[in-house]
Amino acid sequence: MPRYVVFGQPVGHSRSPAIHRAFAAQCGLALRYDRCEVAPAAFAEVARDFFARGGAGANVTLPHKAAALALADVADPAARRAGVANVLTPVAGGLHAHNTDGAGLVRDLHERQRLTLEGRRALLLGAGGAARGVAWNLLDAGLAELLVVNRTERAAAELVARLEDPRAAAAPWSALAEAAPFDLVIHATAAGVLGQPLALPSGLVAAGGLAYDLSYGSAAAPFLAWAARAGVAACDGLGMLVEQAAEAFAIWHGVRPATDPVYAMLRASMPVAASLA
Ligand code: ATR
Repeated sequence: MPRYVVFGQPVGHSRSPAIHRAFAAQCGLALRYDRCEVAPAAFAEVARDFFARGGAGANVTLPHKAAALALADVADPAARRAGVANVLTPVAGGLHAHNTDGAGLVRDLHERQRLTLEGRRALLLGAGGAARGVAWNLLDAGLAELLVVNRTERAAAELVARLEDPRAAAAPWSALAEAAPFDLVIHATAAGVLGQPLALPSGLVAAGGLAYDLSYGSAAAPFLAWAARAGVAACDGLGMLVEQAAEAFAIWHGVRPATDPVYAMLRASMPVAASLA
């Protein structure tokens, strides 16, 4: 049976095995999908060994996404420009890296959140790997403006320089207090994962706009709590998680599975409101 894995640290919480098993059942495919907890120092060796033993594909989550790209022999444009990869696939000629996070986010925004990105103004909070993984895709989807704001302003300026797009700009965190409201506010900092507070003014989201956290579960709780206090529509990144997995599944199996039933299954065990508790 072909073997798949998700590498991460920690990885015990990962929903990827459940998602890929559900996709496989839907498509009538037999496969094995496990979690593999591995420390950064051991990642390259463990991943190489997995593929040397015939592993058919790997998802890669924190903190190994940059190392995954470094390990690959070939990378798709999305992984190259972001500097991080979340999918590794053995192909003739070596290991191929993909980044499906940005495509997953845009798909969730369009299909599930029913948000048109064309002509909209968006704020991206954060300039690390998570932010880099989605920034280009948001611009590709037709945004009119993407403002990148990060705790360390220089990192935001560096990301904007890499984007090479006149619609993208950087601003200091202090500028948020005076910013005109945005149609979309994407939270891509690690504050929630680290259990650190997030200082945001209340008027960031325009009427009819959306606040979106790229993470889910307890990591999304502080941002979703802020959105609730601000009285704006908000969601976590569970839909993005399912959509990026479907993109990976399509790379591996040549068929894009239906994501709604799998999203519904996960959401039933993780209500958005519960993550606010
Ligand atoms: P990830 O892959 O999750 O993006 P990362 O590449 O280490 O992880 O980036 C972490 C991001 O979260 C950075 O943008 C970081 O800001 P700095 O560049 O100033 O470090 C941001 N971040 C981490 N903790 C934060 C906090 N408490 N408040 C605001 N931003 C935070």
